[in-house]
Amino acid sequence: MRSKTGKTMETILITGANRGLGLEFVRQFLARGDKVIACCRAPNEAVELQALNNDGLEIFPLDVGNEKAIQSLPGRLSGTLKESKIAMFINNAGIYGQTQSLDEADPEEWLQVFRINTIAPFLLTRALLPLMDSQLPGKLIFLSSKMGSIADNGGGSTYIYRTSKAALNQVMKSLSIDLADQGLLTAALHPGWVRTDMGGPNGLIDANESVSGMMRVIDALDATTSGRFFNFDGAEISW
Ligand SMILES: NC(=O)c1ccc[n+]([C@@H]2O[C@H](COP(=O)([O-])OP(=O)(O)OC[C@H]3O[C@@H](n4cnc5c(N)ncnc54)[C@H](OP(=O)(O)O)[C@@H]3O)[C@@H](O)[C@H]2O)c1
Repeated sequence: MRSKTGKTMETILITGANRGLGLEFVRQFLARGDKVIACCRAPNEAVELQALNNDGLEIFPLDVGNEKAIQSLPGRLSGTLKESKIAMFINNAGIYGQTQSLDEADPEEWLQVFRINTIAPFLLTRALLPLMDSQLPGKLIFLSSKMGSIADNGGGSTYIYRTSKAALNQVMKSLSIDLADQGLLTAALHPGWVRTDMGGPNGLIDANESVSGMMRVIDALDATTSGRFFNFDGAEISW
């Protein structure tokens, strides 16, 4: 099916879609005529998401830390998708963690950050595979961070967040190899330092600039660039 702009209308599933970068992804995909399945923990409280009030928008409850909810997601999506497939899955939901220093890093919090930032994207990808469109080809996009780059680590500390994103990059890389035959492309993206709740008010760019840039990178993704780590401006980031 084609949108008003003449572009083929695609179905995009986004986690953590109620605020920050997730919400901005929803806005920009809807603006170009795509259909968006916007997942968030508490749809009833997702006021800004609901206010988008667009025919192409479906809001779905999903706590990515809840394994049962992940497993039941494909079944819950069947009514929405009908015969159609998901063109793109954006693993956006993420947490930072409070205890980050050599003195304070807390094992329980570390495990929780891994559960949300690293393991959930893997489990979600595995659960959604039968629903992904391999013809387009389908794309699996992972919101990573430069903080996860070992080559870029000049500041030390931030053990919990850095390791969760470095491990996410490995998940993304293995998926790129394991799923290439199924016609799926993957990328890890650094959104920049963005003024969101996580990035704080001193971030260097706003969500609009970050997401516009990431969408250009996603659009350009092909078999030759799949499995790599990119900045929002398209520059490749060293592992
Ligand atoms: N902002 C930056 O400068 C920056 C830099 C590098 C990477 N990133 C990455 O970009 C992604 C988005 O960041 P952001 O700046 O938009 O963060 P944010 O403003 O803190 O928003 C985080 C989003 O993740 C959701 N989330 C957290 N835990 C969840 C769970 N268990 N289940 C479902 N959703 C959950 C939140 O939902 P609730 O409202 O329910 O908590 C919220 O929608 C993250 O993966 C982050 O690590 C951001």
